Amino acid sequence: MPLSQGVAFPVHYTLLYYKIMAKVLVATEKPFAASAVAGIKEIIEGAGFELALLEKYTEKAQLLEAVADVDAIIIRSDKIDAEVLDAAKNLKIVVRAGAGYDNVDLDAATAHNVVVMNTPGQNANAVAELVLGLLVFAVRNFYNGKSGSELMGKKLGILAFGNVGRNVARIAKGFGMEVSAFDAYCPAEAIEAAGVHAVASQEELFKTCDIISLHIPATAETKQSINKALVGSIKKGGILINTARKEVINEPELLELFAERTDLKYITDIKPDADADFAQFEGRYFSTPKKMGAQTAEANTNAGLAAANQIVGYIKEGITKFQVNK
Ligand code: 3PG
Repeated sequence: MPLSQGVAFPVHYTLLYYKIMAKVLVATEKPFAASAVAGIKEIIEGAGFELALLEKYTEKAQLLEAVADVDAIIIRSDKIDAEVLDAAKNLKIVVRAGAGYDNVDLDAATAHNVVVMNTPGQNANAVAELVLGLLVFAVRNFYNGKSGSELMGKKLGILAFGNVGRNVARIAKGFGMEVSAFDAYCPAEAIEAAGVHAVASQEELFKTCDIISLHIPATAETKQSINKALVGSIKKGGILINTARKEVINEPELLELFAERTDLKYITDIKPDADADFAQFEGRYFSTPKKMGAQTAEANTNAGLAAANQIVGYIKEGITKFQVNK
């Protein structure tokens, strides 16, 4: 419920109430660029609210302490569960500055009358640029000095045609790649309208492409769905690239497949639980040390400022446009 509801003070007292009472916490274990934090501060303080920062925290206890008196929280991949919601007695809204909100317990948030939002599309270009960067790195054999190959003319299969998938398609076309996509929730016409070949199933996508780029969220339906049968159907010399979530991969099955199919490569922006096991496939496996997809000043600014504006819009006017726990 927005702060404005149920507050029976005249307008000038209400404004004073906002000034004193609305406290916004930025809780980011992986911090935003300083320029993005400065922009968030300007919006929050410009609205008459107070900003608190909890960056690079290492213990959940620090988060539990920091949320005790806040009305709103801006997070990235930071976990908001029932324990955090219990500790945040004044909390009205959590905004995940980014796309995926699998790190927030939506049912618990709803039960605590807390609105949850994301900022869709704001960091999509950053993730998409990383996909192409990692792909060049992969086809050039991780820059080991040996002759590699090129992306031009290769078939790229995009699994899920959301904001990131669309940006990957746009950039891949600039490389001269042939781009196909499958999305269970996006009609084929919309994919074709973006100049991308729409295939009928994810099975067809994996079978017909040289490179598969994953952009599915981690849901009950997708968890562990990228399995041996699917990845095993990729063409000889194929590459699987994951800038989505580690949970969508069936890691034991992928490891089994990699022992059999010595032609495949796995490139990921999310360190697998079985990182040490994958690392034995030298020259065929690469993981960024920390999720880097959205880690640019531009993406931090886009997502961070959107989050700050959404909080102000909700608290002051009750705007729920990007609410995900409706
Ligand atoms: C997202 O869901 O927006 C991306 O995975 C980025 O996550 P991050 O903010 O933790 O880098």
